[in-house]
Amino acid sequence: MSVTAMQTKTMMQTKAAVLLEFNGASKRYVNVENQCVDALLPVTAKLHNGEFASLLGPSGCGKTTLLKMAAGLLEPSSGNITLADGQPVKPGSYGFVFQSAALLPWRTAFDNVMLPATVLGLPKSSSKRRALELLEMVGLSHALHKRPHELSGGMQQRVSIARALLHDPALLFMDEPFGALDAMTREELNLELQRIHLNYAKSVLFVTHDIEEAVLLSDRILVMSSGPGRLVKEIQVQLERPRSLAVKRDPEFYRIVQEVRDLLHRPVTIVNRPTPNS
Ligand SMILES: Nc1ncnc2c1ncn2[C@@H]1O[C@H](COP(=O)(O)OP(=O)(O)OP(=O)(O)O)[C@@H](O)[C@H]1O
Ligand SMILES: [Mg+2]
Repeated sequence: MSVTAMQTKTMMQTKAAVLLEFNGASKRYVNVENQCVDALLPVTAKLHNGEFASLLGPSGCGKTTLLKMAAGLLEPSSGNITLADGQPVKPGSYGFVFQSAALLPWRTAFDNVMLPATVLGLPKSSSKRRALELLEMVGLSHALHKRPHELSGGMQQRVSIARALLHDPALLFMDEPFGALDAMTREELNLELQRIHLNYAKSVLFVTHDIEEAVLLSDRILVMSSGPGRLVKEIQVQLERPRSLAVKRDPEFYRIVQEVRDLLHRPVTIVNRPTPNS
């Protein structure tokens, strides 16, 4: 797989345009003791067209919270997250891949991929064609009629990626989609995802704990820290694409990994003290 110079150029041009804007978006939850907890301090950032951006940080720093707010699944406590035209992201205009494949156990792989067609009321015959193409693209043509329990974890995650792409969204939200997979399957799916991102010009907001995964896949990494959750730094990754696993031996790859690691291990200076809910 390779990307033509023209495709690369087009992507670089479109990357300049802002797709999504985080304008001081924060989240304060009320816990079971009726105390307010700042899960996420105000985040101001941008996702550009055709960009692959990762949210990277320790458990509990607010990655899922930020991703769900971006997708309009959760209301920010302050600020907002909008498209370039100032409007929030509309349901059905993006694909969402969850940490676990979250497939319906009674549906076959094919019928799971078809789910958005039912929910969004898309035309049946073209959706069926696309579902078959997508399952072929993720290497599952032989497993169309298998149910989730007959599929390995990696195969289930491939089905969920195909499902997220059925309605051809320009934007993909992915919440640690490969967290439960073994290292080899994870690397295979990393390369698969890069291929989808490049060949279909998808913009991706991707959540991960894994520093190397973030550097391998991203154009930009939003490094977060906890206590309370906040955006610490944005790091550009300008390694040439498409990237193979050999990029991990590149000194620049190693340098970025170290930079991110140092940021993540910096001592936390802010204490997340719950306050009574008034
Ligand atoms: N519905 C909720 N009510 C109260 N607190 C919540 C709720 N959801 C999340 N939190 C808290 O908000 C903080 C951020 O949670 P979030 O799930 O966004 O973290 P995360 O970075 O995605 O963690 P992980 O990497 O473990 O998935 C955590 O302290 C969590 O306990
Ligand atoms: Mg999470």
